[in-house]
Amino acid sequence: MPKHLLDTERLTTDDINALLDEASTYLSPTGGVRSLTQPLLGQTIVLAFFEPSTRTRLSFEMAAKKLGATVLQFTPEGSSVGKGESLHETFRTIEAMGVDAIVIRHAVDGVHRELATWTRMSVLNAGEGRTAHPTQALLDASTLRERVGSLEGLRVAIVGDIAHSRVARSNVDVLTKCGATVVLCAPDALLPAEPWVDRYERCATIDDAMRTANVVCMLRMQRERFEAGLAIDLEAYRASYALTTARAMATPNVLVMHPGPVNVGVELDAGVLELSQTIIHRQVTHGVAVRMAVLRHHLV
Ligand code: NCD
Repeated sequence: MPKHLLDTERLTTDDINALLDEASTYLSPTGGVRSLTQPLLGQTIVLAFFEPSTRTRLSFEMAAKKLGATVLQFTPEGSSVGKGESLHETFRTIEAMGVDAIVIRHAVDGVHRELATWTRMSVLNAGEGRTAHPTQALLDASTLRERVGSLEGLRVAIVGDIAHSRVARSNVDVLTKCGATVVLCAPDALLPAEPWVDRYERCATIDDAMRTANVVCMLRMQRERFEAGLAIDLEAYRASYALTTARAMATPNVLVMHPGPVNVGVELDAGVLELSQTIIHRQVTHGVAVRMAVLRHHLV
């Protein structure tokens, strides 16, 4: 496996399966995540998040600590970035401290790849602009695999704000490599005008998705990434694309996923979170296990 985890495209199906197999060994039958050994004892990992995060940051931290690593937090607010220090110099400084791996989330495409061209640290992508979020896609596949056994032949609809979603981009790649059929469901305004979109089936509404798919991956409407002038009529959006409690209950065999955080009352209703077909909190648990596997594979 490469030393860096920059995207999923560089992972083969065998790489993905190796990570998911290892992640499954960290999941305890009682529902939590266990740590049997501490293979990363003596290694230092820095978490550098230039965008907000709850799940990804905490689960990387928990994963690293369960494996025995020392974790340092870099926060741009209050750092020398505020004094005008360049990103390059910031990374060189972190590297010079003897850090073994940097987990990075940044809004600008390419920051992670550029860093990987020169640093001796292992670079692990925790979210990159609209482009990639490899550990999210891996944890989604891991959650599904636990629930349904194999992704082979599974029909997975990705619903909502695909245009602004790095989760969607990484997910289509991992799901396809695992043998699932991906269907895209979004209004035209929230579908990117990019060639990869044409490789996937489309479905017109959430009702179609619930009728024809085994799984729906709901996406957050990422208003903070909306271009000036992009206005969505919320009522019309909800009528065609929101997962209401009634819609979910009418199709209880369809599994419901969401990377979080959920805009409750926009793409998904609060009642859906309580249904047994909803596996959103299980995704969070898998996030820890998958990140343990990712850290172990890239650092040992
Ligand atoms: C996603 C992200 O930040 O890309 N969240 C996450 O990592 N769990 C999706 C989102 O913010 O909508």
